[in-house]
Amino acid sequence: MKNIVVLASGNGSNLQAIIDAVESGTLEANIAAVISDRKDSGALERANRHGIPAIVMLRSQSNRDTYFNLLHDRLRKINPDLIVLAGFMKIMPAWLVEKFPMRIINLHPSLLPCFGGPGFYGHRVHEKVIESGAKITGCTVHFVTPDVDSGPIVFQKAMEVHDDDDAASLAERLSPLEHSLIVDAVNFILSGEFEVVGNRVIRKTL
Ligand code: GRF
Repeated sequence: MKNIVVLASGNGSNLQAIIDAVESGTLEANIAAVISDRKDSGALERANRHGIPAIVMLRSQSNRDTYFNLLHDRLRKINPDLIVLAGFMKIMPAWLVEKFPMRIINLHPSLLPCFGGPGFYGHRVHEKVIESGAKITGCTVHFVTPDVDSGPIVFQKAMEVHDDDDAASLAERLSPLEHSLIVDAVNFILSGEFEVVGNRVIRKTL
């Protein structure tokens, strides 16, 4: 059984989608740990409720270098097959990303490469989409590389932006798409049936 670790700062609805998929047998994986940088995050509560080891790592305890060294220690000890960033609100330093090449994925609430990069997180992404006048938005799962939100794209789902949408309604309508996207992406990556060619993730042909 492959091991995954989920890092999440917020509500944890995407973590929940992964938990549900594991529990229903749709996703063959073991969630070895959930790590959060917020002690009041819904993600930790969800992990606890499902008997998954829940680890709190507060940034306030340390400076950036110490923080990510501690995180690296944790991850190294668990040695997961895949690290899933599901609403983790911290940008990992390049050296840490490089310790786990093509073993970290991130869920981003836009169709990358649009509306990504430093400063594009949470509702700000949706606000920027509305401001831009774009008629289509969506969500992306991509491998994490040192350049923020620029790694090889694994899967995407698109949806229309309606005239009466605001950031909150976009986030709400996008949420179920994200839930299925993240589960599909974890399944696909754990299957190992892909190759990365440049910035493209391609299904291996038999
Ligand atoms: C999602 O919108 C995801 O795209 C973004 O953070 C949000 C996390 O939501 N990276 P939740 O905490 O899983 O409900």
